[in-house]
Amino acid sequence: MIKIAPSILSADFSNLMKQIKDLEKGGADWIHLDIMDGHFVPNLTFGPPIVKAISRITKIPLDAHLMIEHPDRYVEAFKIAGVNRLTVHVEACKHLHRTVQHIKKLGMKAGVSLNPATPASSLKEILSYVDQVLVMSVNPGFGGQKFIESSIRKIQEIALMIKTIGKKIELEVDGGVDETNASKLVKSGATVLVAGYSIFSKKNISHAVRNLRNAALK
Ligand code: DX5
Ligand code: ZN
Repeated sequence: MIKIAPSILSADFSNLMKQIKDLEKGGADWIHLDIMDGHFVPNLTFGPPIVKAISRITKIPLDAHLMIEHPDRYVEAFKIAGVNRLTVHVEACKHLHRTVQHIKKLGMKAGVSLNPATPASSLKEILSYVDQVLVMSVNPGFGGQKFIESSIRKIQEIALMIKTIGKKIELEVDGGVDETNASKLVKSGATVLVAGYSIFSKKNISHAVRNLRNAALK
């Protein structure tokens, strides 16, 4: 089962409610929320108040990707806002194990993310504690960037690590995902495809979600 997690980073925010309804019609599995602070990444997006508003208008699980420094300080706020799955960057956490435990203790699924230059081996000690791994296949900060090809090898490597552990851990890929690479990503071991530009740049968002899923299953 492949999951499609549209990232609303490329959505029309003046029309967000309608666009989220379109994602529902298209069968989106999760809604991916890119939280940026202008420090960990060179861009700013939105925080808990917007997430809370989104959680009021949809039942689709909310998958928040924190691209912020000191993510541990905001874990409760995102839980209260209605987040179901919370992912932090290994590069942003001094006490990653503590942060992961904190997320799980509050009843959310915990994820860890790797920037393109961070090796798969950095997951070794934390992998058995997490519910998902998010591989960044572009440098985080902006939607619509070009997919970095070496991410494929990293996904294969992490998929193997997960298999060795024998635990159900979702393997999410984020950045530059579209119909042309979806199937290759799934064959490499990805179980969740995040897509922003390739969905929201299309006229019909519901179709775009379905098309990406069909492409992924080819
Ligand atoms: C990038 C974000 C991604 C991004 C993906 O910093 O983490 O979720 O929105 O967007 P696309 O699919 O446009 O590369
Ligand atoms: Zn993201």
